[in-house]
Amino acid sequence: MSRIESLLRAMTLEEKLGQLNLVTAGHAATGPIVPGETTHDIRAGLVGGVFNLWGRDVVARTQRLAVEETRLGVPLIFGLDILHGYRTIFPVPLAETGAFDPLLWERTARASALEAACEGIHLSFAPMLDVSRDPRWGRIAEGPGEDPFVGSKFAQAKIRGFQGERLSDRGALAATAKHFCAGGAATAGRDYAAVDVSERMLHEVYLPPFRAAVEAGCAAIMSAFNNVNGVPMTSHDKLLNGYLRRKLDFDGVIMSDYTAVSELVEHGVAADLVEAAALALTAGVDMDMVSGAYLRCLPEALARGLVAEADIDAAVARVLRLKERLGLFDDPYRFATPAEGVQEAHRQLALDAARRAITLLSDRGILPLAADVRRIAVIGPLADARADMLGPWSAAGAAENCVTILEGLKAALPACDLIHCTGVSIEGDDERGIELACALARSADVVVLCLGESAGMSGEAACRATPGLPGKQRQLAESIMATGASAVALLSCGRPLTAPWLFEQAQAVLATWFLGDMAGHAIADVLTGRFNPCARLAVTWPRDVGQVPIFYASRSTGRPPDANNFYSSKYLDCPVEPQFPFGHGLSFACVTLTNLRINRLEFTLGDEVEVRVDARNESEVATEETIFLFIHDVTARVGRPLMELKAWAKVALAPGKSKTVAFTLTAESFSFPGEDMEVMFEPGAFDILVGLSADRKNLLTASLRMIST
Ligand code: BGC
Repeated sequence: MSRIESLLRAMTLEEKLGQLNLVTAGHAATGPIVPGETTHDIRAGLVGGVFNLWGRDVVARTQRLAVEETRLGVPLIFGLDILHGYRTIFPVPLAETGAFDPLLWERTARASALEAACEGIHLSFAPMLDVSRDPRWGRIAEGPGEDPFVGSKFAQAKIRGFQGERLSDRGALAATAKHFCAGGAATAGRDYAAVDVSERMLHEVYLPPFRAAVEAGCAAIMSAFNNVNGVPMTSHDKLLNGYLRRKLDFDGVIMSDYTAVSELVEHGVAADLVEAAALALTAGVDMDMVSGAYLRCLPEALARGLVAEADIDAAVARVLRLKERLGLFDDPYRFATPAEGVQEAHRQLALDAARRAITLLSDRGILPLAADVRRIAVIGPLADARADMLGPWSAAGAAENCVTILEGLKAALPACDLIHCTGVSIEGDDERGIELACALARSADVVVLCLGESAGMSGEAACRATPGLPGKQRQLAESIMATGASAVALLSCGRPLTAPWLFEQAQAVLATWFLGDMAGHAIADVLTGRFNPCARLAVTWPRDVGQVPIFYASRSTGRPPDANNFYSSKYLDCPVEPQFPFGHGLSFACVTLTNLRINRLEFTLGDEVEVRVDARNESEVATEETIFLFIHDVTARVGRPLMELKAWAKVALAPGKSKTVAFTLTAESFSFPGEDMEVMFEPGAFDILVGLSADRKNLLTASLRMIST
């Protein structure tokens, strides 16, 4: 008999329910704390996992309660939100995605896993895979942006990074793909709000990253707080049992989000906690995070006939199997040991990641800063804002490890005179500091304007109806630019910020997001030209909040936008085009693409389509370009998006050099969910569009046909 079978046989009902109980403790509360005598409960075998607790001593002490003081000695699993770093803090995922570099995504997850595993963590509540097309939603910062193909690649890389070769390896963490699913489509960008999406959008946009996560062997999945088309995800039998378990064969652990089981009552689908617990369990949720509803109410649900003991056993078996895969039965005190120099290596990686995440949005030729610049005014509320560099999830990271923008510039430009004031605060109405800021600006050769949001304005529950620059920052920026000073604006933020006036007036604007520990050094490297920026937007940047949701892969309309046709799809008071398209991002070089060619005019299932394009660096600086390949299915039974990303390539180009970039597509890339949502191949014409962003007018186009076999 297997260990799991014999444990199941030996367990009382209460002990089984204990395994399904995931409780919070300690450092960081991410929601309302449900009171409970955690220590007492662990000793009584009533807890299966603990999160928000880290550090060798405290984890070992807590684990000992389970292993040595409970009847069956089943070890606890320790979890934590490790969204963009554990001790070393990396850029927020939305920014890191902009590097379009799966190896980098994997390496930062690997580094975080190792650091966390050294301090007793076994499971990460990450990666966050919510596709989002709405910058009002604060959690857009935590995920891979607007595109399902990018989200899928991001999922695979992060899971490889967290889990490594084997979960039982000391430096590995079990990954949790979250939040399943579609929370990024929350009504009006409000966190936790209802989600109404079509079956088609679910299958084309919101599910693919989760499918990729399951295919990559992801150990766990967290169901989302929101409902989808009326059914809360915590009780969504069709998507949890139907899609994840049966269609994708997912046999890992599904856990609820924080108190989401008890919230089923609030959602209006359960009359009481007993029904809530029964609904969640029978829909496929194995672990109840923080509600305690399984522990308290499943016995009653059994008595009422709402659940069967077999449902409970199946969930417990999955939790025990995860503990077994992690090697916890053999070594409940599994701590990784840090190799010498690892911390420094991770800081270097954080620098590399931060540099690669900085997006140069606009530049009228002021960057990189000229070598003869002597006096720089570093102005704005984000210039020396150490804690804000961390971003919304900082796990065991610390503000004191962060390099501010001011510090980074000082270190990079020791011969320069750097003068600084904040001018205004991030939020609030006080404008009194603007005068001094203008005086500093007048006395300087150049102004670095450090604008944006505080870290807490992005992330969970941090939604903004007007995602522009908060407080009096616009007044500060416009007053400074009115002095005639040359200004480079830096935007510290977890979302695209609507500020069309800034792009008109500033000499250059960079999205510097929340870059983590090495923010200041990375920014200084870009401003001084020591690093040529290479990030691209993983999300479309709107001009106005009224354009939201905005994304490149929009579907066709019978009346496409047309300035000469009143009755076309447009606004009276705002252009249809975004401020910057998906994939936008400048560098100090200039690359041109020519000679798009395809190896065949027709293809069928089993064929490979090879696409080639020549990229030439027309400038005198070396550069790393990202080249995107989109397809458009010209005619299909279901109208297809105008563009769908199917591949990208990164190419390093020395000054004046050219390279041929090759992409290989299989017929899969040309399939789409048919009317029954099953994979469908429909013969007909396709366009291949290749370019440096999703800006349609700058794409090279070629055509080919799928023919039937
Ligand atoms: C968040 C999750 C997180 C959990 C545990 C919830 O409020 O939605 O993303 O994993 O808390 O901290």
